[in-house]
Amino acid sequence: MTPPDPAGGAALLRYRPTDPAAAPAVQELLDELGLGRLEPEDLAGYGGRNDNWAGRTSTGARVFLKTVARAPDGTSGELDRALSFETLALRLPPGSDLRVPEHLGSHRPGAVSAYRLLPGARSGAEAALDGDFDEDLCRTAGRAVATLHGLDPRGAGLDEGEPPLPPLDWLEAFPWSALRDRSMGQIAAWKLVQDDPEVVAALRGLRERERAAPRTPAHCDLRFDQFVLAEGQLYLCDWEEFRLADPARDVGAFVGEWLFHATCAVFAPTGGGEGSQEPAGFDLSHQEVLRRGGEGLRRHLPRVEAFWQGYLERRTPDPGFAERAVGFAGWHLFDRLIATAQAHATLSPVARAAAGIGRTLLTRPTGAVTTLRLHPPTGAVTTLRLHPPTGSTR
Ligand SMILES: Nc1ncnc2c1ncn2[C@@H]1O[C@H](COP(=O)(O)OP(=O)(O)O)[C@@H](O)[C@H]1O
Ligand SMILES: [Mg+2]
Repeated sequence: MTPPDPAGGAALLRYRPTDPAAAPAVQELLDELGLGRLEPEDLAGYGGRNDNWAGRTSTGARVFLKTVARAPDGTSGELDRALSFETLALRLPPGSDLRVPEHLGSHRPGAVSAYRLLPGARSGAEAALDGDFDEDLCRTAGRAVATLHGLDPRGAGLDEGEPPLPPLDWLEAFPWSALRDRSMGQIAAWKLVQDDPEVVAALRGLRERERAAPRTPAHCDLRFDQFVLAEGQLYLCDWEEFRLADPARDVGAFVGEWLFHATCAVFAPTGGGEGSQEPAGFDLSHQEVLRRGGEGLRRHLPRVEAFWQGYLERRTPDPGFAERAVGFAGWHLFDRLIATAQAHATLSPVARAAAGIGRTLLTRPTGAVTTLRLHPPTGAVTTLRLHPPTGSTR
């Protein structure tokens, strides 16, 4: 039987949650907040990396609780980063383009946070699969992300450490200790990167340009499933990677999401949803792959463009921004193909195609900026420096 949807909608994919009794900090936090106890018959879990609980409490509150990773010494960089975002979120004016679920409180030692449960919530990933993440929503997402990048980080204690991905050491050699947790498919995916000196050099170059770029508050884990549609609005959640970083990362990740989505659609069995991720395509002819690829790009490019236009409406990026964003989009394709290879023993055609696109973006970013229509803001003029005429003294 499908459990009732505590959010009052029918959209988010729900799971049987872990027994909250196994995480005593959940109840301790609810006690601190005066929210009573979770009603067991009304409890659901939503997909995600971390344990979470969505439900109603005995006081009638609707809450979304989640745990995040803790180090053996009890500290949690993930919680610290998420809380630093909440400090900044308090500064957002009412009606801001950046909407986030209201943070109710956190239990530091248990690394648990509570948020208001968004009613009728629907994940951006589901909306993308159903074709509902349309141009309007992309424009809204672009404005939200630009608003995030425009926030003044002073005094909020943001993490200033480098984002961990892509792990440059792994481009040379895979750590032996990491092998145990990787599938054969993932090892094959990493080998694709390691065996390609041009891609390795491009990733190193991207990291260098990132280091020289102006940094802003950035989400740093932007994917479709971090967007939530509820109450007719678009919300952005999951702030555990939030830090001071190159904002081109977030734009690149969003663009990369669409390109990965389009790649999956090429190999989806005909008749599936537009982004169905069923592995297929072993029998597709090269011609058919190209035809479907072209069609997918035509469908998705206007969404990328709408996101970028929304972004530019709220923020003027630095001159090298679009090229770095393309590089990060390229990395995002590798990141996604490595993640999806976890369940496989070999590399699927989707993974190989994604690697091909990722490679092109990383190694030829200038051309890709044009193809993806990441044009500079309208009205931006190139400043021509003119030397005074020879002999002129003024
Ligand atoms: N306040 C909320 N109300 C309703 N749904 C939410 C809320 N916050 C997150 N979600 C949904 O739960 C999913 C998992 O939450 P998220 O914070 O992304 O956790 P994880 O770190 O495990 O990815 C999200 O993808 C989103 O669909
Ligand atoms: Mg998430």
